[in-house]
Amino acid sequence: DTNKFLTKLKGCYFANTQLNLEFLENLDDFEIRDDDVFIITYPKSGTVWFQQILCLIYFEEHRKGIGNLETVERIPFLEYFSREVDFAERPSPRLFTTHIPYYLVPRGLKNKKAKVIYIYRNPKDVMCSYFHFSKKLTASATDNFVEFMNLFLEGEVAGSLWFDHIKGWYEHKNLFNIHFLMYEEMKKDLRGSVLKICKFLGKELSEEDVDAVVRQATFENMKNDPRANYDNKLKAYFGIQKKGHFLRKGTIGDWKNHMTAEQNEKFDMIFQTKMKDIPLKFIWD
Ligand code: PPS
Repeated sequence: DTNKFLTKLKGCYFANTQLNLEFLENLDDFEIRDDDVFIITYPKSGTVWFQQILCLIYFEEHRKGIGNLETVERIPFLEYFSREVDFAERPSPRLFTTHIPYYLVPRGLKNKKAKVIYIYRNPKDVMCSYFHFSKKLTASATDNFVEFMNLFLEGEVAGSLWFDHIKGWYEHKNLFNIHFLMYEEMKKDLRGSVLKICKFLGKELSEEDVDAVVRQATFENMKNDPRANYDNKLKAYFGIQKKGHFLRKGTIGDWKNHMTAEQNEKFDMIFQTKMKDIPLKFIWD
């Protein structure tokens, strides 16, 4: 029974753990500032990675490794772990992370002033990453891959259906000042991705600063950097008691180690049907 772990709000599932439901229900009226930046992702698409990148771009302290605020404290989630956060009190520029679908955003975001960065990842890897993550949760729906694939393809997971999330954001992109960035592109060319994002944000960093961002945003570095990897928060945030790391593998194409040829064929058929009108590029390996 998945619904034990999930809350549905206006057609979208959210994880119960640490959900700031009251805030989410009133999000429509949340006041937006011109220099706000929102990271939007479907779960397991590179959220914490991009939070770290943005932190390194915006906070010299973070870049220099001084000051011990964690990435998630500098760029809090809107809807999770945020019951103690007073967003209205935060100094500008405010940086936010969220998994919400396009139709749940604060009304003011649609004035194209605040910036939105949508990070997406090939959905087979998203599914596999999600499977491993949800297996670790105390409130795990299943630890069986076949069952998880069914839940994922039915949208019976936090974030609901991957296809609806990305299509919703893409099809309404003209309402927002939005930049789409691919996980796989960040993986293949991190420096190039950082430069693109700096340009979109109007941030000019020196060559050395860009080097420092890139250096501290690699998987290996983040895995060893407690500010960046949630390892201190696994229990408090996710109720995870089991051993393991939030940063698991961080590769492209791990789905090949999980899916059978038959499962892959089924996935491809659904992908082709659902995504036929969405010209976003995908990298699968
Ligand atoms: S969550 O729960 O939605 O916030 O998860 P999210 O951060 O979106 O996704 C977790 C996956 O991102 C991988 N990750 C990285 N990959 C490459 N490089 C870096 N620096 C990096 N940081 C995080 C993380 O390992 C999860 O993917 P998998 O495939 O499970 O390893």
